[in-house]
Amino acid sequence: MKHLIDPTDLSLEEIDEILTLAEDIIADPAAYSEVAKGKKLATLFYEPSTRTRLSFEAAMIDLGGSVIGFSSAQNSSASKGESVADTARIVEKYADIIAMRHPKEGAPLVAAMNVNIPVINAGDGGHLHPTQTLTDLLTIREEAGRLNHLTIGFCGDLKFGRTVHSLIKQLSRYSGIHFVLISPQELRVPDYIKDEILVKNHAEFEEVEDMETVLGKLDILYMTRVQRERFFNEADYIRLKDTYILTEEKLKLALKDLKILHPLPRVNEIAVEVDKDPRALYFKQAEYGKFVRMALMMKLLGLKKPETAPEGETTAC
Ligand code: CP
Repeated sequence: MKHLIDPTDLSLEEIDEILTLAEDIIADPAAYSEVAKGKKLATLFYEPSTRTRLSFEAAMIDLGGSVIGFSSAQNSSASKGESVADTARIVEKYADIIAMRHPKEGAPLVAAMNVNIPVINAGDGGHLHPTQTLTDLLTIREEAGRLNHLTIGFCGDLKFGRTVHSLIKQLSRYSGIHFVLISPQELRVPDYIKDEILVKNHAEFEEVEDMETVLGKLDILYMTRVQRERFFNEADYIRLKDTYILTEEKLKLALKDLKILHPLPRVNEIAVEVDKDPRALYFKQAEYGKFVRMALMMKLLGLKKPETAPEGETTAC
């Protein structure tokens, strides 16, 4: 049984296969419109989501399958005290694959340990978000043309941002990546990411507080919002929330072919005026998310693209 709990659950070869399949789906979506006929996805979301849940659901529908699930803990029997393990055991009876988001780190792993269908981590607390990482990788590969030899700046809340942790974990497996970690002191990348991932993988990295001084050397700028829901007190959130605001004025310092990514939702950290800049790719990035989730679910469910009839051959009536 293959689950996706941590981005490194997939080998680099498997990631390459998923990205290549996503590219094929983008090129010919009609060819995939029935591959998951009869399959059901259960979206178990204990935390709010727009992109992840809806792109998972759209992905399964576009593969010809169907969707069941809940969008908040309040709408499920978790509100009566049911455990994640018991919920997963029940959902296994109704669905073929689970996508789970949960505020507690490790909850999707607990689900995976209790079922015999694939479980996908759709974000667990401040820990990891592996399908956002696949989305980011597809965006970078499509838009920058490569997944190695890049200087990538992560800016904002690097302490609580699970998308940042996941993408650093994944990109540190590719060669020639230089990480520029831009954050206030209080929101720096956790030590475990530095020690167990960056240092262990001999990745080049630097930590800075000022965005403007490093903008000019970045191939990719990965902006993030300050994660209000993970702060212990509101005063700290208010003090830190507008530390970085990317504007057109600041972008004059950046490379002409910079790629600006953001997992979204955006709050204030990218001025709306930046949206029309051709370097702003965050809405396109969200679109890539649906295709990469289609490819991922096909892989985890062992689904194949139907063979096309050789040219000249007709189907019997
Ligand atoms: N990027 C992302 O996870 O967005 P949602 O919280 O809307 O799913």
